[in-house]
Amino acid sequence: MRVLLTGGAGFIGTHTAVALAEHGHEPVVLDDLSNASEEAVRRAAAIAGLEIPLVVGDAGDAAVVGRAIADHGIEAVIHFAGLKAVGESVAQPLAYYRVNIGSAVATLEAMAAHGVDRFVFSSSATVYEQPGAGLREDAPVGIDLGNPYGRTKAMIEAIVADAAAADPALRAAVLRYFNPIGAHPSGEIGEDPKGVPNNLVPFLAQVAAGERASLRIFGDDYPTPDGTGVRDYIHVLDLAEGHVAALEALEPGVLVANLGTGRGGSVLEVLRAFEAAVGHDLPHEVVPRRPGDAAISTADPSRAHELLAWRATRTLDEAIADTWRWQQRNPRGFRG
Ligand code: UFG
Repeated sequence: MRVLLTGGAGFIGTHTAVALAEHGHEPVVLDDLSNASEEAVRRAAAIAGLEIPLVVGDAGDAAVVGRAIADHGIEAVIHFAGLKAVGESVAQPLAYYRVNIGSAVATLEAMAAHGVDRFVFSSSATVYEQPGAGLREDAPVGIDLGNPYGRTKAMIEAIVADAAAADPALRAAVLRYFNPIGAHPSGEIGEDPKGVPNNLVPFLAQVAAGERASLRIFGDDYPTPDGTGVRDYIHVLDLAEGHVAALEALEPGVLVANLGTGRGGSVLEVLRAFEAAVGHDLPHEVVPRRPGDAAISTADPSRAHELLAWRATRTLDEAIADTWRWQQRNPRGFRG
């Protein structure tokens, strides 16, 4: 299939482009490069061994998306485009609603105008109103989520459901990501955060590289085995393969699936895995909890296994080793 990846020059998009190519599909990237680089797409193409066309443009403009669809004979769209920083979304909520909601609506409109009916959406575990262990897809989802970023994901899920109800031809998948980490094992593509990373693994990578003094562990008094927060860390290649499986399993209507491993890792376990990859201890200190953080968030991934014949196979240690390889080879990310 010829697949348009909106926001496809980013961390998850580039890895998904490689996975699509490995499964015989033809990825085309549409990205405004506001938080991604052309070099990432070039490297993904080199790994995949094929040309990956890059259309530089705004997925919030239905005419731009429509042109990309027409020019490249697109048959399916994976919609990654959007802003993704939780803290920033609290400070700039309107930008999050405009960009995230606007790009989802514009993309769906452009698809409808061009008769494209396969759609996969990047959602998040953040849509669950009550975080916890072994979250199932039928757990309550709502907009009472504490931050505008999460709300945009829940709202777009509702928009996709409404679009599918109105158009029986639409075949959609909503994929709720847990915590994507890792990098391609080649060390050629990986996560390239702008400024100070918000997320644990990219921050630790910079501590390991000596660019940041010390990891701040946000609380060790949670009701978890070692007192630190527990998350379901999933290797980005497993996540990427989940998108390919979802694309190939689409049926009329909306399929909703968690993409997670089902296993929890604590902040201290991630720190230890990183220390093992690096070969020495890493500076860290315990500080108060970060407002809004849950004690635990892990998936029940059984629905994805049943419906997509997919499951995550890579370990936390592999993901951390791949992150460290990427970080060492690309200390300045894609800036060279
Ligand atoms: N943590 C630290 N120190 C840091 C960064 C994180 O101790 O410097 C801890 C957090 O408290 C948490 C764990 O590491 O326990 C993971 O934190 P991340 O920021 O890496 O990930 P979150 O689970 O908070 O965030 C993820 C996604 C968001 C999504 C959110 C809620 O990155 O997009 O889950 O589902 F909104």
